[in-house]
Amino acid sequence: MVAARAGVHRDTLLRWLREAVVAEPARDRRGWRVFTESEAARIESFAKATSNSRSPDPRSSIVRSESIERLYEIDWDFADAKTAYLTHGLHPYPAKYIPQIPNALIQELSSTGETVGDVFCGSGTTLVEALVLKRHAFGLDANPLACLITKTKTTPLSAAERSSLLDLSHRAEALGGELSSQTEGSLFGPALFQSRADRPRAEDLPFWFEPFVIEELAEARAWSQSLPTEATQRAALVCLSSIIVAVSKQDSDTRYVRRAKDVTPGETLRRFGRSLRLCSRMLAELADIVEPRFTSTVVNRNILEQPESPVLDLVVCSPPYPNAYSYHLYHRTRMLWLEMDQPTFKRVEIGSHRKYSSKSKSAATIETFRSELHTLFAWMRKALRPTRHACFVVGNSTIGGRVFDNGDLLSEVARAEGFVEEARLKRHMLDSRKAFNPAHGKIKSEDIVILRNARGGAL
Ligand SMILES: C[S@@+](CC[C@H](N)C(=O)[O-])C[C@H]1O[C@@H](n2cnc3c(N)ncnc32)[C@H](O)[C@@H]1O
Repeated sequence: MVAARAGVHRDTLLRWLREAVVAEPARDRRGWRVFTESEAARIESFAKATSNSRSPDPRSSIVRSESIERLYEIDWDFADAKTAYLTHGLHPYPAKYIPQIPNALIQELSSTGETVGDVFCGSGTTLVEALVLKRHAFGLDANPLACLITKTKTTPLSAAERSSLLDLSHRAEALGGELSSQTEGSLFGPALFQSRADRPRAEDLPFWFEPFVIEELAEARAWSQSLPTEATQRAALVCLSSIIVAVSKQDSDTRYVRRAKDVTPGETLRRFGRSLRLCSRMLAELADIVEPRFTSTVVNRNILEQPESPVLDLVVCSPPYPNAYSYHLYHRTRMLWLEMDQPTFKRVEIGSHRKYSSKSKSAATIETFRSELHTLFAWMRKALRPTRHACFVVGNSTIGGRVFDNGDLLSEVARAEGFVEEARLKRHMLDSRKAFNPAHGKIKSEDIVILRNARGGAL
């Protein structure tokens, strides 16, 4: 009766009760629910508010909960899945998730032609999958390098553009090969190749790079910047960025300490050439699959500043969480060469070790993260279409020796900001996976928390 009065299916009302979106009434002796007049009126007005929201949801709630049921059937470990197809393997990115995760969520929780957003887009995994599945893609990240990578991975190039990347790859491999053979044949050590190109003015450049690597990187960067279109320049710079940690003295992608490496003259240009060749092939595959009518928009913003966004039909993301990673450090040597504003990113980066490990009184705590999450969900409640989903892939954090369950925290804050938790899926990480470093980030399993925007409003 109450469902009919509210104009919703009985199953929808049962789901609202289960999720505590509407209050549970008292029951009679047979266990049947007995709604008072004011409880029924509240349900009626909740149903009206949901259906009056900005635009009607084309998919019924019953279909939606079947989608959630299907999500529970999936084995989220994806232990043997191939993860580097299309452009996914173009550039390393700490804590990037495997494409199978956004793929499954996008298929179940959105429809063709809708807009899927990732507000911590990192290297753009969600956006690539959104385009492949015929959705528009929106990505946001405070890290300018993340935006450059994402834009490149989601922009198909024309055949002419791809051939200019290939030409450059031949040029780089030829000079790299020449420099390598000169070194091997010389009794007096390598004759230093000197590039006439500009190089970054950072004082610590020689601390992080061998002198001959600096010359080769300067040459490769100047070549990239002289390519004919903005998209090819961007792609070449991403290829350059992808090899920088390997040819530098930075220990690894997730350790910002110096150590000696065995980089030889010519190697930098040869690596750059190889990366360009792979990139050209990957972007050809992307162009074959992605229809030009599906667009990808990427913005370099701090999510906590409430940036503008298109109306999103689904959000799929993996947020930065306390004390897990420090992207501003891991990417510093790359950002030097790309002349990106690293200090600004450092200031706004959520979760970085630097903010949590400080001994000062102003060091961040779990309450810092809670307050950032409130700001995030207040923004998302307006940016995400009412009744639609936001999916978060999160692990736990360790701060000062204490473990915090970020899934619980996220869900608690989201509920306070007008979301309901529809599902929490578990996923286990294999230690052999490179994408995460469990010892470093203290991550052994992850939750996929699926929230629904229970109310809405204009942005
Ligand atoms: C776990 S990573 C996302 C990885 C991504 N899912 C992928 O597959 O590549 C989290 C991202 O949050 C970004 N981030 C940190 N603080 C931010 C902020 N204040 N606003 C927007 N993005 C931020 C980081 O730069 C990082 O790229």
